[in-house]
Amino acid sequence: MNNKHIKEGLVQIYVPEFDKVSSQAPVFYNPAMELNRDLSILALQQFQINSDHEITICDAFGGSGIRGIRYSKEISGVFKVLVNDISPLAVEFGKENVRLNNLTNIEISQNDANLVLREKRGEFDVVDIDPFGTPSYFVDSVANSLKASSLLCITATDTSSLCGTYKEPCIRKYNAVPLKSEYCHENGIRILAGFVAMTFAKYKKSVVVKFSHSSEHYMRLYLQVEKGAKEADESLKNMGFIINCKKCLYRDIINGLAPHIPKKCPKCQEKLQVGGPLWLGEVQCADFIKNMISLTKEKSLNKEKQILKLLNRCLEESKMPPTFYDLHVVCKKLKISAPPLLDVLNLLKEEGFLVSRTHYQPTAIKTNAPLEKIEAILTNLHS
Ligand SMILES: C[S@@+](CC[C@H](N)C(=O)[O-])C[C@H]1O[C@@H](n2cnc3c(N)ncnc32)[C@H](O)[C@@H]1O
Repeated sequence: MNNKHIKEGLVQIYVPEFDKVSSQAPVFYNPAMELNRDLSILALQQFQINSDHEITICDAFGGSGIRGIRYSKEISGVFKVLVNDISPLAVEFGKENVRLNNLTNIEISQNDANLVLREKRGEFDVVDIDPFGTPSYFVDSVANSLKASSLLCITATDTSSLCGTYKEPCIRKYNAVPLKSEYCHENGIRILAGFVAMTFAKYKKSVVVKFSHSSEHYMRLYLQVEKGAKEADESLKNMGFIINCKKCLYRDIINGLAPHIPKKCPKCQEKLQVGGPLWLGEVQCADFIKNMISLTKEKSLNKEKQILKLLNRCLEESKMPPTFYDLHVVCKKLKISAPPLLDVLNLLKEEGFLVSRTHYQPTAIKTNAPLEKIEAILTNLHS
């Protein structure tokens, strides 16, 4: 077997030669996830700074070891990293790669992630869940495992389920109905956050989303975990539903787990689509993201430009309400061409509305303005 030499961040690794990135590769390494790993370095560093003590990290799905090795080398204040993988070959390469980088605070284990998390309950300050496809099978174990004031990093690549291309798998895996709409990626993040919150509540633990993004083929969330039944009950107040009208683009949020949900659109009487239960609380924490932006300069990461663009968008949208309007979709309904997005943004701002761009979609805006107002502005700009 020929090996491939890879340099990423401040580390280097070997992986078996592969033709294309796939879960069938002998040891998994995806260069397209460098941005994801760079952002993780920033989020974990910020979490460590906030914690004010050395942290122990579990990279539960280690693959080649690249992620855990980078955590050990590039984050300061790390006491220990456990890199785990179920594959014997991945573990073999992981061990070699740790030696290659001369690191002494990494342990490598070969086990099912669910077992590691249960066996080492209370040992980790940070757990990273980065499996193939859905993370849902591992959320109970990590909810059981994590202690107070810890951080959960979680990736989902089953975006077709979370975005509603396939409804049934989303219901099975996340116990939520997805919504196939122009803002389906945001919905997916909210479904995953809601599923995590509901699962953690079983273990009397609460979550706060510090940062989240939907990029390429995956969604990624960083959640601060606290202990306490009261706090868990409080966090569940963020759960609810989104109603959506496919015909006129009306949408609204409905808080609660057993609310009254109207069947027909109040604007055009069309049958409404319903998504949820999902997380209606914040999915971006402005202070946390601001600090990640400051750290970006210190860490001299390869993907700095992309990172800053994404973080600044997430910061912009952090105080905005759920869902967004894709101006191309609204203009299609109005049968007009779309004006420059910044013109719409400025006019809404002038009228006193909250408004921002969004990292989910370059042609979309987030705002608290009603749809009628957006449509009036678009029509005026067109005439
Ligand atoms: C998406 S890859 C991880 C990529 C890695 N975190 C990175 O950033 O390069 C998923 C890994 O999970 C491993 N895996 C699959 N099922 C597992 C399980 N139940 N427990 C632990 N590892 C598992 C696979 O062998 C594979 O290496």
